[in-house]
Amino acid sequence: MVSIERIEEIFKEQFGELKDFEAYFSPGRVNLIGEHLDYNGGHVMPFAIDLGITAIFAPDTTQILEVFSADFNEKIQINLDNLGDVEGFNQWHLYVLACQKIMKSRKLKTRGGKIVLKSDLPLSSGLSSSAALECLILYMMAPQVYEKDRLALAIDAQRAEVEEVGVKCGIMDQYAVAFGKENSAILLDCNQLTHEYVSLDLKGYQLVVINTNFPRNLIESKYNERKSECDKALLEIQFHEPITHLAHAHVISVGAIEEDNLYYRAKHVVTEEQRVLAAFDALNLGQIDYLGNLLWQSHQSLDEDYEVAGEALNCLIHYAHKFRGCIGARMTGAGFGGCAIAIVEKSLVNRFCTYVGRKYETDQGRKADFYLVNPVDGVRRIK
Ligand code: GLA
Repeated sequence: MVSIERIEEIFKEQFGELKDFEAYFSPGRVNLIGEHLDYNGGHVMPFAIDLGITAIFAPDTTQILEVFSADFNEKIQINLDNLGDVEGFNQWHLYVLACQKIMKSRKLKTRGGKIVLKSDLPLSSGLSSSAALECLILYMMAPQVYEKDRLALAIDAQRAEVEEVGVKCGIMDQYAVAFGKENSAILLDCNQLTHEYVSLDLKGYQLVVINTNFPRNLIESKYNERKSECDKALLEIQFHEPITHLAHAHVISVGAIEEDNLYYRAKHVVTEEQRVLAAFDALNLGQIDYLGNLLWQSHQSLDEDYEVAGEALNCLIHYAHKFRGCIGARMTGAGFGGCAIAIVEKSLVNRFCTYVGRKYETDQGRKADFYLVNPVDGVRRIK
């Protein structure tokens, strides 16, 4: 987490004096298992991580919100009385504006003032920096409202992304940022929008996040393509079973799907759903080896059946698999680059990072980054 003192300095450089202020932290997320299930009504198991965005907010009585991002070295201004499209707005600007628009549509009061944001979450790496930003902006604008209703926070943040920014994501990322809990993973039922926590006690193992640093160019088009393939698969299955979500399909009706592509997409979805539920039991029973096994299987399914892994992620998983002391690894998030996770024997973590890092660089011609992350509470006020 970036220190508040560091952001205070930046605030003074940008805006001059700083008197009364509030400080907030919004985490990124890692998904332990359950990939591409959120928009198929299945279960997922993400957790909020101790990398994220820290912000200082000095509210005032104006209707002008000024936001400086230290990561992009850019400042934007939004007139809260007039939330039309703002010329020149792109990337992170749009997320901030989108949140204001969603709050306005819900007739929630926002606040003017000055904000500085700084992140230690690698951007565009599949660790949900956009969900962290959406939840952070909403929460800062109306902390009392969203503290009382974190489900509304997750839903509003997802709406900002889908309706205003135009990325058709599911709800997993925003839910994880809103509901994160220290030392715990979240078993989220994406159909009911309810969850249970499970202690993420990996015994003698450490969870390692590995960033491929591979540009995620295709991500949006491929993501939307997978979504529509799942919709088509569901339509076919509905001839056999009266279900409303693909994750609830029976393997027998999946087997009856005629088109190859659709069959494999559906196969991933129904088998991944079973793996998530098995992973929940494994964690509850302290069977970390079994959990690791489920991670390998999940990756294979995402690579071969769902076809979202790609060369860079596969290279990481290949070498993770060769390393004795790594008991499971898989891609995490949407795929097509981004990050992988691995469960590694604690005493061998340094060796693991050196080994996989070296092999990856030789094979792929780019460096991987490694992070040791821990599960933390969701977005919150820290001062
Ligand atoms: C992205 C989306 C999520 C989810 C994952 C894949 O992170 O934002 O909603 O669909 O991909 O599991």
